[in-house]
Amino acid sequence: MKVVAATSSSVLSLAAAVLAATASSSADPSAQRPAHLVRRQAASQVDGMGVAQLAIYQQAFTDPVAAAKAANAQPYIAGQYATGNLYRYNLATDNGQLPWNTNVPFIPEAAVNGSVDGGWQALPEIQGMSLNRTFAAAPGAVMPFYQTAGYDSSKIKRAVMIMPGKPRDCWKYTSLVQNALDVYITNPQSVSSNPDGSPSGNARTSQDEVLILGPCWMNQNDRAAGAIQEGELYWRNGQWQSGMASRGPGDTAVSSYQVMDAFLDTLFDKTQFPSLDAVVVAGHSMGAQMVQRYSVVKQPASYDGNVTFWIGNPGSYVWLTSTRPNQSNTSCQADYDNWAYGLDGSGVPNYVRDRVKHDKQIVSTFQTRNVHYNYGLLDNGQGDTACEASYQGANHLERGCQFVESVAALSGGSLPSTQTANFMPNVSHQDYSMLSYNVSLYRLFEEVPAGASANGSSSGSSGSSKNTASKGSGGSASAASSMYNVGVLAAAAGVTLTFGVGLL
Ligand SMILES: *[C@@H]1O[C@H](CO)[C@@H](O)[C@H](O)[C@H]1NC(C)=O
Ligand SMILES: *[C@@H]1O[C@H](CO)[C@@H](O)[C@H](O)[C@H]1NC(C)=O
Ligand SMILES: *[C@@H]1O[C@H](CO)[C@@H](O)[C@H](O)[C@H]1NC(C)=O
Ligand SMILES: *[C@@H]1O[C@H](CO)[C@@H](O)[C@H](O)[C@H]1NC(C)=O
Ligand SMILES: *[C@@H]1O[C@H](CO)[C@@H](O)[C@H](O)[C@H]1NC(C)=O
Ligand SMILES: *[C@@H]1O[C@H](CO)[C@@H](O)[C@H](O)[C@H]1NC(C)=O
Ligand SMILES: *[C@@H]1O[C@H](CO)[C@@H](O)[C@H](O)[C@H]1NC(C)=O
Ligand SMILES: *[C@@H]1O[C@H](CO)[C@@H](O)[C@H](O)[C@H]1NC(C)=O
Repeated sequence: MKVVAATSSSVLSLAAAVLAATASSSADPSAQRPAHLVRRQAASQVDGMGVAQLAIYQQAFTDPVAAAKAANAQPYIAGQYATGNLYRYNLATDNGQLPWNTNVPFIPEAAVNGSVDGGWQALPEIQGMSLNRTFAAAPGAVMPFYQTAGYDSSKIKRAVMIMPGKPRDCWKYTSLVQNALDVYITNPQSVSSNPDGSPSGNARTSQDEVLILGPCWMNQNDRAAGAIQEGELYWRNGQWQSGMASRGPGDTAVSSYQVMDAFLDTLFDKTQFPSLDAVVVAGHSMGAQMVQRYSVVKQPASYDGNVTFWIGNPGSYVWLTSTRPNQSNTSCQADYDNWAYGLDGSGVPNYVRDRVKHDKQIVSTFQTRNVHYNYGLLDNGQGDTACEASYQGANHLERGCQFVESVAALSGGSLPSTQTANFMPNVSHQDYSMLSYNVSLYRLFEEVPAGASANGSSSGSSGSSKNTASKGSGGSASAASSMYNVGVLAAAAGVTLTFGVGLL
């Protein structure tokens, strides 16, 4: 509050608004967003005041595909997005929306100079975290990220990596996950040891066993404005979310997914984190787009059974097949299945191009991964405005239901045993409500990854999940050993992207 109140109007000051504890309209971040992002449906317009939604929430624990179909049949989902009441994002009510996340101290979003379009001027200090600017993800190329301050690596059992949203707001999402962890720790009743509330006998995770990591995927504007320093990685616009090559530092062209691999290799390095046996890669909105796409094309590694992907309300998907639920727009008839909406086309990043071409196991590998789809049952905002996205459905929720149905259709009508879908009643495109929903707290902080148990006893041994079996697929070596082939990656530079402007 103190820092920002007197500075220029370019300062975004959420912190001030929250601490002032008055009506927050002046700092309402929705005021900074395009109109289509804030046109949400109010809960009061939904039939049955949430009764139907609660039934869907519960059904998802036993039959997530039927729940997806039921959500997809809700009357309010059909349109592009409902007009009527605007949903106004409000930090105060978001924070207190859920019964179990009230009365927990809430770390507000840090103030930061600069803007989404003009570039961020600095990565802010945030409460409880430190900014790590020494991690070389490639020679001479540092990836900045937030990490839990003062953690003891010998105690860490679990890492939660959170992706930012379209505004590249790593500081905000990092704080949201810290807040969610506080809820989990402070309100044990928020989570029983099974996701549906029944007990499993698992021990609850303690705070000092969790390492939170918030990578800062910045772009050329942030470099120009100052947030990215000499020697640090940055991408073009929002290309970090689709695995494209970095635009710097210098001529370093490293896929954002290769940077993810480097993080995971580091976390599963038992000399650095001897007790760590689970990593959750999480994201909401554009962050969820990154997580979903990465979960499909990630270079296989021996520890993949211990990695969980938490995907909340993405704007669009990389679809697994070339069929789509909606083919009504002729303007993208020829390219609706191109990367990053499908696995086709010339824009597939170098990171995965060989595996897509020569190794047909992309889909079967994905089916073994621990993937959790999470949807706000009121999130009928359009999100990604590209024609290719409209082929996937009209809005976040519809695309999500249809993606879940499409994944199930590939495996006999049910989701793969390592995958789940959950639907949050009364939640719209609200990052914190999604992350702090009770079932999300379980997924983020407690659940043993479903794929981990099978090979649990062989930890650190051959490390050969079936995902790594394929030969001649551009190297099954760990990401770290291929990390430095910067010359190969650099070839991605002339690739054209087909994203719409409203991508998130
Ligand atoms: C949804 O919101 C309505 C209106 O505030 C409330 O009556 C209902 O209990 C809520 N339902 C759930 C499942 O949270
Ligand atoms: C924003 O910039 C002003 C002027 O340089 C500086 O005084 C202030 O501390 C900055 N605020 C933040 C949150 O970095
Ligand atoms: C920064 O991150 C790297 C990679 O995890 C780690 O090796 C290094 O110790 C971290 N630096 C600090 C100061 O924690
Ligand atoms: C989680 O929330 C749902 C929906 O509000 C509720 O029905 C359920 O009992 C909650 N579970 C736990 C463990 O609190
Ligand atoms: C079809 O896609 C084009 C290109 O994205 C867009 O301008 C147009 O509005 C879309 N048409 C419909 C009916 O959504
Ligand atoms: C199909 O896409 C068009 C835009 O191209 C959109 O107007 C329509 O609502 C969509 N229908 C469904 C069922 O998704
Ligand atoms: C994966 O998780 C299992 C079960 O928690 C554990 O026994 C095993 O050591 C973990 N593997 C790795 C590579 O961390
Ligand atoms: C466990 O290891 C065996 C042998 O390497 C492999 O066939 C199997 O797929 C692995 N299971 C998982 C869940 O990774």
